[in-house]
Amino acid sequence: MRKLFIAGNWKMNKNVKESVSLAKSLINRLKDVQDKDVVVCPAFTALSQVYEEVKDSNVKVGAQNMSFEDEGAYTGEISPRMLKDFCEYVILGHSERRQYFGEDDEIVNKKVKKALEHGLKPILCIGETLEERDGDKTFDIIESQLKKSLKNMDKNDMKKIIIAYEPIWAIGTGKTATPEQAEEVHVFIRKVIKKSYGDEIASELRILYGGSVKPDNVKTLMEKEDIDGALVGGASLDAESFSGIVDF
Ligand code: PGA
Repeated sequence: MRKLFIAGNWKMNKNVKESVSLAKSLINRLKDVQDKDVVVCPAFTALSQVYEEVKDSNVKVGAQNMSFEDEGAYTGEISPRMLKDFCEYVILGHSERRQYFGEDDEIVNKKVKKALEHGLKPILCIGETLEERDGDKTFDIIESQLKKSLKNMDKNDMKKIIIAYEPIWAIGTGKTATPEQAEEVHVFIRKVIKKSYGDEIASELRILYGGSVKPDNVKTLMEKEDIDGALVGGASLDAESFSGIVDF
């Protein structure tokens, strides 16, 4: 049985004070949640204080990105060694990183490897553009992103990785994939993983859906067999809507 996993990606929003206040409100609202893993991913600047706020609660902390280097002369970068102080998870290969900051599957692969080396659990994001979907390329794109980003991962690595399927056309647009559209891709992802890593790894793998998840659409998505949670952007910035999503 796969435990549902709900993560909030706060993106480039909220200063330290606002982040701590949201974290406070969430731990209070979500204190009785046992049946789901709940993770918040604040900006780097707020990680330390959000961690202090939630560390004795059932809410865990993740980062939104990281360097593929351990340390050194890489101005402006944050390494997995630094994140380990506060984070259990790290989002990698988010489409906004791919789109605006030139991250490709090769870079994402290096980051996934580095995260695992430092004991961080990657939330690996993949997803197609609208153009690719309209051109019937969704499955090819998904398969290629999976193969390249997971290059050289073994079964043990796969046990620690979470995949987030985020169709780019559904991110921040208010256009959610239908539960059927999402489920179809989730089933495909599990099939691709099964081919390379076997049935056991594939059936344990948690595959999240991301893209305009809201309190009023989360339930029908989560009812699908192969949708094991959500990666939430906009609706995770408000305590009431994020706790509504967790507690659907
Ligand atoms: P959204 O973002 O919920 O605002 O669409 C999802 C994401 O980018 O992870």
